[in-house]
Amino acid sequence: MATVYLEEIDSTNRYSKSNLDGLEDRTVVHALRQNSGRGRLQRSWVDLGEGNLFLSFVLKPSKVYDEKFANLTQYLSVVLCQLLESYGILPQIKWPNDVLINGRKIAGILSETVMQGNSFKGLVLGIGVNLNAVPESLNMVKDKPVTALNLEISKSVDLNDFRDKLVSMFFENYDKFLESGFNYIKDYYICHANFLDKEVCVQVFNDKKSGVAKKLTDNGELILEKDGSQLVLTIGDIL
Ligand code: BTN
Repeated sequence: MATVYLEEIDSTNRYSKSNLDGLEDRTVVHALRQNSGRGRLQRSWVDLGEGNLFLSFVLKPSKVYDEKFANLTQYLSVVLCQLLESYGILPQIKWPNDVLINGRKIAGILSETVMQGNSFKGLVLGIGVNLNAVPESLNMVKDKPVTALNLEISKSVDLNDFRDKLVSMFFENYDKFLESGFNYIKDYYICHANFLDKEVCVQVFNDKKSGVAKKLTDNGELILEKDGSQLVLTIGDIL
C-alpha cells in the first residue's frame, strides 16, 4: 500500500482521478487542507480547518467493473462507524453512506468511477471526516446539520492516528468484502441504519421519491413502499 501526502489540494478525489495512471492499486491520498472538496449531488465539501480528514483511496480491483464496487461506499461507512465506536460514540448510517451522530452529519463519502472509453480503469473512494472543528465553523455548512468528533467526545482528535486506523481497518476486510459484497456488512449496516420503517424522501438524480423505507436488499438497495407498491432504489440519497 502506498500513501501520497499533500499539504493542500483542491480535492483529493480530483487529484487521484487526474493521476490515476501513475498511482498503484491501494494508494491512499491524504491532504491536510482541501480548498475545493467535492460532495455528492454536485455539492461541495467544506474544509472546517486544520485537523480534519480529507482522504481518497485509489482502487484498481480488476480490469472489469463489478457491481459490488458500487457498495464500497457502504463498506467504508461501516468501517468508519466501527472506528467511531472505538471512541465511545454511537454512529448511525443514512442510506446509502452518510454517517451521523445524533442526527448530525460527521462524514461524507464520494466514490467516482474512472473509465477510459468502455474500459474500467479504477475507482476513487473519497472520505471527509470532521475530526476537529470549532463550533462556529459548523455554520459554514449551510445545507444540513453537521458535527465533528472532537465536539462529541469533548477532546481533540489525533488526525494521523485516526487516519492510520481508518486505512488499516478498511484494508483488513477489503478482499473479503469484494468477494461477498453488501451481504458481508448487511447485519451491521442494518443495526446502525437510522431510516428503516420511517417516511423518507430520496433524491434520485433530478427526481425525488418518497415513501416508507421498508428494507434493504442483499445488494444494498433501498426498498421504498408507497400506496401499497414497492420501489427498489439502487442510486440516490436520503435527504
Ligand atoms: C458527501 O457529499 O457527503 C460526500 C463528501 C465527500 C468528501 C470527501 S473529502 C475527500 C474527498 N475529496 C473530495 O473532493 N471529496 C471527498
